Amino acid sequence: MKLEYIGHSAFAFDVKGRTILIDPFISQNPLANFDWKNHNIKNILVTHGHGDHLGDAIEIAKSKYATITATFELANYCARQGASTNPINLGGKISFEWGDAWFVPAKHSSSTPDGGYAGEAAGIILNIDGLRIYHAGDTALTAEMGLIKDIYKPQIALLPIGGHYTMGVDEAAIASKILGVEKVIPMHYNTFPAINVDVNAFKYKVETYGIESIILRP
Ligand code: NI
Ligand code: MN
Repeated sequence: MKLEYIGHSAFAFDVKGRTILIDPFISQNPLANFDWKNHNIKNILVTHGHGDHLGDAIEIAKSKYATITATFELANYCARQGASTNPINLGGKISFEWGDAWFVPAKHSSSTPDGGYAGEAAGIILNIDGLRIYHAGDTALTAEMGLIKDIYKPQIALLPIGGHYTMGVDEAAIASKILGVEKVIPMHYNTFPAINVDVNAFKYKVETYGIESIILRP
């Protein structure tokens, strides 16, 4: 399995010849340089409806005959735009040929691009060959992260650190500790001025908790 950071909260997972995308904010993402046309994209997972997460999901899904998995209301929006979808909701698990995904609570808002109701914002736990990766989506620091540790036991967390719209450096460092992960990858920072942070301050804080931080360049 290969993980590629596209920038912001967008990641590509290459698993056995196919590519899985989470929150594919690409064409409008000033940090992204990812040519999705050259990937065998099968599934797209979207944490919530904000433009910096839904991104290019609908266009990619239609072009690649890939499915979008999202909370029920957001999935229905995508279906109305012509994408094939797997509607899911918080607490639910969906299994694919390449692994499993659970949708878990995130403390954030969500809406469709036209301002409609998009259901609740989510985080996503992936299980790929026993490796459990928690993509937190956009979220504040929440007590639910302790439950995520107990139930899903993620080894790697992808956490927003940019503040302003989500938790910031200090809260994300505490989240890493609560989650009990071995490694943390910061995301959702330095894309726009409102979320500019010192990523090395995050690295320093999590390392005082004995957790490895991996800072990926898009
Ligand atoms: Ni958001
Ligand atoms: Mn966001």
